[in-house]
Amino acid sequence: MKKSHRIAVIPGDGIGKEVISEGIKCLKALSEITEGFQFEFEYFPWGSDYYLQNGRMMPVDGLEVLKNFNAIYLGAVGDPRIPDDVTLHGLLLPIKWEFDLYVGLRPVYLFPGLESPLANISGGEIDIVVIRENTEGEYSNIGGIVGVEDRELAVQSGLFTRKGMERIIAFAFEYARKKGRKKVTSITKSNAQRYGMVLWDRIFIEVSVQYPDIQTESKLIDAACMDVVRNPKGYDVIVASNLFADILSDLTASVTGGMGLAPGASFNPKDRSYPGFFDPVHGSAPDIAGKGLANPIAAILTAKLMLDYLGEEEAAGLLLRAVKQNLSEKKVRTVDLGGSSKTNEVGVDMVRILESL
Ligand code: NAD
Ligand code: IPM
Ligand code: MN
Repeated sequence: MKKSHRIAVIPGDGIGKEVISEGIKCLKALSEITEGFQFEFEYFPWGSDYYLQNGRMMPVDGLEVLKNFNAIYLGAVGDPRIPDDVTLHGLLLPIKWEFDLYVGLRPVYLFPGLESPLANISGGEIDIVVIRENTEGEYSNIGGIVGVEDRELAVQSGLFTRKGMERIIAFAFEYARKKGRKKVTSITKSNAQRYGMVLWDRIFIEVSVQYPDIQTESKLIDAACMDVVRNPKGYDVIVASNLFADILSDLTASVTGGMGLAPGASFNPKDRSYPGFFDPVHGSAPDIAGKGLANPIAAILTAKLMLDYLGEEEAAGLLLRAVKQNLSEKKVRTVDLGGSSKTNEVGVDMVRILESL
């Protein structure tokens, strides 16, 4: 009997729908090429259109339904007709919180054949993994808006727990050790944020002592943003809070070829009782949605991270090889990479390459 992976597919909004179908094409091809596993995909039409019809981003029992899957594969959420805090707090963020998917893994790599917008950097020279705390920090949702007119005020609190910080920092070191990486950089703003980030810095030092084989570095977010642009080769594994890692992951994406290439995974490395959650770093890109212009490689590399999570290493390896080959051939590329191919043509090309490997 073939092993079966149950995948909840949420294409979502905008380019989410366009890129997810290309990722699914690759996954289907892989399950035919490599023996031993198959997928059961179930589609959920949740997102902004669903909201406009039903007044919610997903049904009341949406999370209960998702619990029964091994993984969730999502395109993107966000629609100019609805406030972003409503859409994101209605679908994407509760999945990470309620399922305690505390690790956000966002690797970027300057693939050979690609040009960085930075001068004098060649393919292969940037290889950074951003590890994001996914369940607390600046996203804790504690606060409120009260008062009226000139007395209106907002309180927005950050939540920084020892447990939450220890586990994400320890994961970053474990990940570095397992993958043979040399350095972990922690990024905070403890000169201004006096409590949460000061405690983060202290815990980073405490945890790092247990990993004498890994170099460590602690930077402030402003200087780190400058330095990722000035010296991207100097970064290996980065660990940061929810908001800072969110910002850094768009920055690291842009120095390695753009949003169209950056994948993301969210999971709990200690507990598989809930599904892992896989979505590219980019959003729904309303500026290019519906035109076939979106680069699906971020979603395809996200599918690769999902295969890693599901233990399908051979298939994950093949998918990575296919992406590398497509990029080095420089023939079938979307507009963001200087080509003229449509989103679906890139998916078709990946399947062609997969079938030839
Ligand atoms: P975005 O990532 O959607 O787009 C930023 C820029 O990158 C745009 O110019 C866009 O065209 C380009 N881009 C993004 N993905 C691309 C791709 N695959 N190929 C080619 N170009 C690509 O960020 P935004 O415009 O700030 O956000 C749009 C909406 O998406 C907002 O509603 C936001 O809240 C939401 N959002 C959702 C997620 C998610 O669901 N995971 C992530 C980020 C933003
Ligand atoms: C991301 C996105 C989301 C986040 C937003 C849309 C809430 O930017 O996945 O990077 O910050 O978590
Ligand atoms: Mn983001």
